[in-house]
Amino acid sequence: MAQEATLVLIKPDATAAHHIGDIIKRYESESLTVIAVRMMKMTRELASKHYAEHIGRPYYEDLVGFMTSGPLVAMVLQGEDAIARVRAINGKTNPAEADEGTIRKLYAFSGSRNAVHASDSPASSAREIPLFFSAAEIFD
Ligand code: CDP
Ligand code: MG
Repeated sequence: MAQEATLVLIKPDATAAHHIGDIIKRYESESLTVIAVRMMKMTRELASKHYAEHIGRPYYEDLVGFMTSGPLVAMVLQGEDAIARVRAINGKTNPAEADEGTIRKLYAFSGSRNAVHASDSPASSAREIPLFFSAAEIFD
């Protein structure tokens, strides 16, 4: 497997609940490298780009309200097979279905307030990373 980069967001719920350090520590402990990081507030415009495929779904307005409700931490993680590995570390979307020890099992409040985002494919990471970081902000 090749080196990959993936976009991770520590969502406003986990950021407010003081889990930034625990979550980054978990990724670093699994040999993933932070190559970009920033705290920011997502605008509705950025949410509509990042979550474009979800526009029109019944949960979309709630999702945008949540994601713009407070600061989040955006980062790019790099490593061997990083896209699939980070999705596995994060666990299933709904914490009730997430495996023990996953970030969502540990820190998510619900299937919407679920602590973290990670790109789900190479096409998604290639689309998502430039929404959050310029080339000069990525240290790869
Ligand atoms: O984040 P992930 O890729 O695991 O899930 P998704 O199906 O791509 O959905 C994106 C995000 O929308 C989720 O992480 C939830 O925050 C939210 N969502 C929701 O609030 N209610 C749903 N029924 C499905 C998704
Ligand atoms: Mg998704």
